[in-house]
Amino acid sequence: MYLIKVNSYQEMSDKAADILFDVITSKERPVIGLATGSTPEGTYKALSDKLNSSTVDQSKITTFNLDEYVGLDRNHNQSYAYYMNENFFNHVSIPEENINLLNGKAADEEEEVKSYEEKIDEQGLDIQLLGIGRNGHIAFNEPGTSFDSLTHAVELTEETIEDNSRFFDDKESVPSRALSMGLKSIMKAKKILILINGENKKEALSELLNGVVTEENPASILNNHPDVTIIADSAAIGE
Ligand code: F6R
Repeated sequence: MYLIKVNSYQEMSDKAADILFDVITSKERPVIGLATGSTPEGTYKALSDKLNSSTVDQSKITTFNLDEYVGLDRNHNQSYAYYMNENFFNHVSIPEENINLLNGKAADEEEEVKSYEEKIDEQGLDIQLLGIGRNGHIAFNEPGTSFDSLTHAVELTEETIEDNSRFFDDKESVPSRALSMGLKSIMKAKKILILINGENKKEALSELLNGVVTEENPASILNNHPDVTIIADSAAIGE
């Protein structure tokens, strides 16, 4: 694993956008895996600016998102589809048919997750962008998730519901389930870029770096991937 230390959120976002942009420009038909949450918002701003001021043919870009809440319509302002439109897709010209998002309102959940995984296999992820939860979750893979998991339906933990309630009117409004790429799905990406900022992620970062690979810490699986870059700020790194 390669660790890039930065001093600010802006620096993290700019570096992340540079790495994503380099992957995009190095491929004929780049396939990029995307995440939501507070962490990558600045990255999407920086990346859309970079793409729009370049000659990159955005019609060649394909995206896959990590996860979506079960039960939220894609127009719901807390759905991850809505987040992606607001933060990225509305600002770039990636064709709609190249954008892959899990449908949290799919009538047949099993079919939804199975066909999503098949699409990932067909297209292959050139890079996967990740954030991390305080408990080490990546995507919605909570502690205890099998390292062999493919795209699947998950029950959210109390801690994650609590953390995400800041975006909802109250805790009760946070969905209790989600559809998520699995740990094995994420590991299929050729390259992984994980962003970790803020003091509240300090423990998650140190647990990732201590090298102990255990299903109790989902992010620890990244120690088994050959090409992982972590960008972390000084608050998360600490002393
Ligand atoms: C979102 C996702 C989650 C977040 C994590 C951190 O697509 O997969 O694993 O990356 O919950 O969220 P923030 O960035 O809001 O701290």
